Amino acid sequence: MKSFDIVTLTVNPSVDKSTHFSGLIAEQKIRCKDPLFDAGGGGINVSKAIERLGGSSLAVFTSGGPVGEMLKELVTKEKIDYEVIETETGTRENFIAVDDNTNSQYRFGFDGDVLTDSEVEKLLETISNLKPKFLVASGSLNEGLSSDFYQKVAEIAKTSNSKLIVDTSGQALKKVLETGAYLIKPNVGELAKLVGVERLEIDEVNEAAKKIIADGRAEIVVVSLGPQGAVLVTKNEYEFVPAPNVAKKSTVGAGDSMVGGMVWALSQNRSLKEVIRWGVACGSAATMNEGTQLFKFEDANRLFEWLKNK
Ligand SMILES: Nc1ncnc2c1ncn2[C@@H]1O[C@H](COP(=O)(O)OP(=O)(O)OP(=O)(O)O)[C@@H](O)[C@H]1O
Ligand SMILES: [Mg+2]
Repeated sequence: MKSFDIVTLTVNPSVDKSTHFSGLIAEQKIRCKDPLFDAGGGGINVSKAIERLGGSSLAVFTSGGPVGEMLKELVTKEKIDYEVIETETGTRENFIAVDDNTNSQYRFGFDGDVLTDSEVEKLLETISNLKPKFLVASGSLNEGLSSDFYQKVAEIAKTSNSKLIVDTSGQALKKVLETGAYLIKPNVGELAKLVGVERLEIDEVNEAAKKIIADGRAEIVVVSLGPQGAVLVTKNEYEFVPAPNVAKKSTVGAGDSMVGGMVWALSQNRSLKEVIRWGVACGSAATMNEGTQLFKFEDANRLFEWLKNK
């Protein structure tokens, strides 16, 4: 069997359907243009980003019903290897529509269905058997899935000697840090919640991240700041990287692209200075494309070259 340095985990994937229309009017039929379909969900997006950079990963995700079948087809089209845990309930769909009159984007999302205990067990068993160098746990948890699910994944990562990269929020992030992760990527709002404050100013991020590291809960904390860029904090380092000024079309998938860029750079043994720059380059490159599309390699590469001297 092929072995993978990087495994991504998506417990709550989706098929994202995106379209355009002109004018949002209640009670009337709104004509939508031909839809585009994309495989979605944190881990799957990270796998897509890695593929775009020329790397490879194994995507582990749940799939059920006809939407699940479509999800597998879409992932195959992206040339991503995968291992699927079949579920009794169907994979969710999200709907993203842009009003061309106002250029406003509407994002309709659904919660993922409840997973059975045996499906959850199968997910954890699959992860335990893989023992990759890097394990990426990204995205929301399904309704009803215990908030310590990623913590269980963290325990598996510890036993397998895998470096765990986590991109999630709220209670799921709090719990995972009780066991510990290699790298976490909260945005500044998620970091504020994690440390129990209403908001954090940029100059307070370093201290908050350093505390997490000093408590032994993560080795690397990357805090994304949207259009302002990101900071990387370790025990001894603090690195701020500004986001390049790009023609922004849609920020959907910026965070996942950033995680993909960083994991790929880590797997290539790049320095942390390069890791954060690849993250910002991929995140910002993702904003240059419409809807759920991530980034083009040429854009990410060009932005990385520019960021090298920043
Ligand atoms: N408006 C923007 N202009 C340029 N770059 C951006 C912009 N928004 C996001 N980015 C890039 O994407 C990275 C991640 O964005 P952000 O901080 O919004 O993550 P996030 O809140 O986790 O996003 P998501 O909603 O995808 O989860 C940023 O560090 C930056 O490099
Ligand atoms: Mg995010």
